[in-house]
Amino acid sequence: MTQDFLTTPAKILITGADGQIGYYLNQIAQDEPFFSVVALTDAELDISSRDQVQQQLDRHLPDYVINTTGFNAVDQVEVESDRCLALNRDAVENLANACGDLAIPLLHLSSDYVFDGHYESGYTEADQASPLGLYGESKWQGEELLRGALPQHVILRVSWVFSTIGDNFMRRALLQAKGQEEIFAADDRRGCPTSASDIARVIVAILKQLHNGAENWGTYHYCCAEITTRYGFTEAVLAAAGQYEKLKAEKLVPISSSQLGSDAERPASSVLVCNKLLNDFGIHQLPWRSQLVAMIRDYYQNEELSKA
Ligand SMILES: NC(=O)c1ccc[n+]([C@@H]2O[C@H](COP(=O)([O-])OP(=O)(O)OC[C@H]3O[C@@H](n4cnc5c(N)ncnc54)[C@H](OP(=O)(O)O)[C@@H]3O)[C@@H](O)[C@H]2O)c1
Repeated sequence: MTQDFLTTPAKILITGADGQIGYYLNQIAQDEPFFSVVALTDAELDISSRDQVQQQLDRHLPDYVINTTGFNAVDQVEVESDRCLALNRDAVENLANACGDLAIPLLHLSSDYVFDGHYESGYTEADQASPLGLYGESKWQGEELLRGALPQHVILRVSWVFSTIGDNFMRRALLQAKGQEEIFAADDRRGCPTSASDIARVIVAILKQLHNGAENWGTYHYCCAEITTRYGFTEAVLAAAGQYEKLKAEKLVPISSSQLGSDAERPASSVLVCNKLLNDFGIHQLPWRSQLVAMIRDYYQNEELSKA
């Protein structure tokens, strides 16, 4: 879109606005004078419905659509495989086709799970996808269908998303630490935790540049800086939360992922290399530790969340 960015705000339509990333994107974009925001929850727009997508696009005529929906319940995938494929693959194609018909660029979120996790040094956008399970496969197929349907797309792969809302490993660690004396965390999988608000910052920065005329379409990686394990992250969660309340947990025990008893196979090392985002958009990685401190502060400042 080559418009005068300073005088013409970009109208963005966010799908899945009640989710982790959708929620923070809506908050951050609303504070930006350069955006006019339409944020639609799943109750307001089911992206698997062609009619609903068409109606909302016709009604709002956005400059960009940002798809933050996703079936992310990795452990539920085997029993809910139809739902997973319907949302992560088929609905993405539906949205991409509708955006394509109206020439509306689509920014879509994908996952580190498109990789098998064997590269310890990290994955670049040029590396071959090789998902281990249906979740990663569904995200990969959604990406491919989007690439085929709409050249004006940005696919932003992110990893290990945490926030104050929804079901994520920061909140799960806090709930366990409030209720148990001993808690367990896997120390054999490497990755980069990434806060939903930081991903929202990155999306806003990308959209501003696209709206200013940058033609950087394609696939990008973003995660916060510093590789850790779930154990390392949980340790940091407990330290940060301990500033606000006396947690019941006294002992954090490192275990292997196989001891956690999860059905789904997960990548052992799913570090995303983010140089392309830096080179094309000038966007730097922020450390997850400072993002975590901010999220924990938000969690305790919101009484309802800290009691949850
Ligand atoms: N979470 C992670 O660790 C992680 C890691 C890598 C990549 N990602 C990707 O990042 C994106 C956002 O993840 P997230 O953690 O923010 O997800 P999330 O918190 O689960 O939010 C997803 C939102 O999509 C909504 N939704 C479900 N079906 C829908 C439909 N048919 N139409 C419209 N909305 C629908 C959900 O509503 P309900 O809650 O009512 O179902 C929810 O509000 C996804 O593409 C995900 O694959 C996430």
